[in-house]
Amino acid sequence: MPLVPMKAILDATERYNYAQGAFNVNAVCQAKAVIEVHEMFRSAAILQGADLANAFMGGRADFTKGTLEDKKKGALNIANAVKKYAVNSPIPVALHLDHGKDMDSCVAAIAGGYTSVMIDGSSLPFDENVELTREVVKYAHERGVTVEGELGVLAGVEDHVFAATSTYTNPMDAVKFFRQTGVDALAISYGTKHGANKGKDTVIRKEIAIATKECMLHEGIEGTLVSHGSSTVPQYIVSEINALGGALKDAYGIKKEQLKEVSKLGIRKINVDTDIRLAVTRNLRELFRDEPELRERSTVSAIYQLLLANPAAFDPRVFLPPIMDTVMYGSVPDEDIGCIVDCIERGVKEVVGTLIVEFESVGKAPLIENVSLDEMAERYRVKGI
Ligand code: G3H
Ligand code: 13P
Ligand code: ZN
Repeated sequence: MPLVPMKAILDATERYNYAQGAFNVNAVCQAKAVIEVHEMFRSAAILQGADLANAFMGGRADFTKGTLEDKKKGALNIANAVKKYAVNSPIPVALHLDHGKDMDSCVAAIAGGYTSVMIDGSSLPFDENVELTREVVKYAHERGVTVEGELGVLAGVEDHVFAATSTYTNPMDAVKFFRQTGVDALAISYGTKHGANKGKDTVIRKEIAIATKECMLHEGIEGTLVSHGSSTVPQYIVSEINALGGALKDAYGIKKEQLKEVSKLGIRKINVDTDIRLAVTRNLRELFRDEPELRERSTVSAIYQLLLANPAAFDPRVFLPPIMDTVMYGSVPDEDIGCIVDCIERGVKEVVGTLIVEFESVGKAPLIENVSLDEMAERYRVKGI
C-alpha cells in the first residue's frame, strides 16, 4: 500500500495500549530490512531518516557537511526505495524525518516523499520553538503530513541530574506546546540520551511521562509522547564488537523493562538508532573475520580498512563510503557487496525484531487505519489545525 501518515500508526498505539518502535536507517538495504522484519511480525513500521542520514543517502560520505541539496537528494532516494518496498507490502509503513533542523529540511523531506517530519526546535527558547514548529505544522498538515516537535533537551555525553537547571520537559509546558503548535507528537526529555553511552544504571524519570500524559488528558489534548535516545545497547553485542577488534567503552543503554513500563504510561513512540548501528558493526567485523579472503577483494577491501582504522566507531556511515551506490540506491553489483548487504540486513533484523516484540507492536498491523495523505489533510483542514 502507499505510505501512510505516521499519525495513522500512532493513533492505534493509543487505542490499543502498546508502543511502536521507530527505527533509523542510513542506507536503502536497511530500509528493506526494517520493512521485512515488521512484515514478519505483522507490525506496522515507522522508518526514520535523520537530517544527516538524508545527506549521507544523498551521496555525501562526509555527511556532517551535507548541504540542503544533498539532503533533498537523499530524501528522494530513500523515499523512492521505501515506497517501492511498501507498495507491495501487507503492512502500513510511514517514513519520518528525524530531528529535522529547520523548515528547509522539513520541506525537502516532504518533497522527497516523507509522510511525517520532526522539527527539532528544542535548543530554542520556548516561544521561538513554538513559532518554528507552528510554521512546519501549517506546511505539513496542508499536505496531510504528521509533525513531531521536541521540548526539553536530551542529555548528550554527560550525566543528567534533575535540578533547578534541568532541561527535562516541564509537563505543563508540554500541554501549552501541543495547544499552541498543533503538533501530533512530542519528544520529551525525561532521562534518556542519544548514543551508546547513556550511563550504566540510567533510570528514566517516568513521572515526567505520567504527569505530561495526565495533564494532556485533563486538558483534552490528543497527541503522542515520544521517547528519543531509547536504544537498549545490548551488552552481548558490545562484548562481541570488542572481541572482534572494536574498542567500545562504557556502552550502556536504557533497560528494556523501563521502556516497556513507560510504553504503558503514555510513551507510544520509541526511537532507536544506536542498537541498529551496533548490530551492523558487529556483523561487518564478523564477516571479515569469518571470510578473510574478502579483506583483499577490490570492491569491499576499503570497508575492512575503515573497520581497522576506526575501532571505536559503530556508525556504519564510517564504514560504508566505499559502496555509496549501494547505500543510495540499493544496487548490488557483485557477490562481495552482496555479502556486505546481507550482513547489514541481518543486523537490522536482529535488533529491530527483538524490539517489535518487546514494545508489543507484533500483530497490530491490521488495526491501523489505511488513510491517505489527502484524507488526512482534509481532516486537519476541518479541525482547523
Ligand atoms: O537521534 C539521532 C539519530 O541517532 C540520528 O543521528 O544525526 O548522526 O544521523 P545522526
Ligand atoms: P539512540 O541513540 O538511543 O538509538 O536514539 C535514537 C534517536 O533518538 C533517534 O531520534
Ligand atoms: Zn532522537
